[in-house]
Amino acid sequence: MQNPLFIALDFNHRGKRRQFLEHFQDEQIDVKVGMELFYREGVKVIEELKDAGHEIFLDLKLHDIPNTVNRTMRVLAEMEISMVNVHAAGGQVMMEAAIEGLEAGTRPGKERPKLIAVTQLTSTNEEMLKQQLHIEGSLESVVCSYAQLAKEAGLDGVVCSAKEVPLIQKGCGADFLTVTPGIRRHTDHHGDQIRVVTPAEARALGSWGIVVGRSLTTVNDPLHVYKEMNADWKGVALR
Ligand code: C5P
Repeated sequence: MQNPLFIALDFNHRGKRRQFLEHFQDEQIDVKVGMELFYREGVKVIEELKDAGHEIFLDLKLHDIPNTVNRTMRVLAEMEISMVNVHAAGGQVMMEAAIEGLEAGTRPGKERPKLIAVTQLTSTNEEMLKQQLHIEGSLESVVCSYAQLAKEAGLDGVVCSAKEVPLIQKGCGADFLTVTPGIRRHTDHHGDQIRVVTPAEARALGSWGIVVGRSLTTVNDPLHVYKEMNADWKGVALR
């Protein structure tokens, strides 16, 4: 997987999900399966997407006691997906337990799924951090210390806003993966995302991978928009 553009398959209906993917039959796309789709369709959707040749980021954002996360990660590793995640707010021991679980569940000869941590959701702003979560310190400093904690726990990277990538790379090194949602074209609605950038801006900021949801899932011609956004992401001319 090199600089993936994960399409967030945020659908609550198998028919709608299949109809959406039909647009991409001649395109090798990487996909993100989130809670909505996974809770609706279960492990069968993973099998179907793997059979169709997609790399899968299973975005279930685990956040529980270390033992539960460890055991759950064993189960997820057996699904042979490419990437999974946890909330860094679960703490270092939980993240270490997650890695151990993934390693234990990876079949011999197979690659362990990459594990990344959510630092702060891209829908969070500083006011929420202070007033609702009672976390002092700037959003940036919280994101950076969560990223460092994730690195110390042995994780491969973090989910974060593209705007935070330069700071995270400064603290954790350029090879620490950064996967960034909150991606929009200039003309798109932001929805509930507060910290948004375009694919080209994400590339310029140093994101390793991006996640695009509603900009693709709510348009009439997703293939065209995908090609446009992917070209913008890769910094190449539109084919
Ligand atoms: O529709 P949109 O492009 O905003 O979708 C972004 C996707 O990335 C959603 O599936 C959302 O759950 C996910 N995500 C996020 N922020 C994070 C982690 C995941 O928006 N910090």
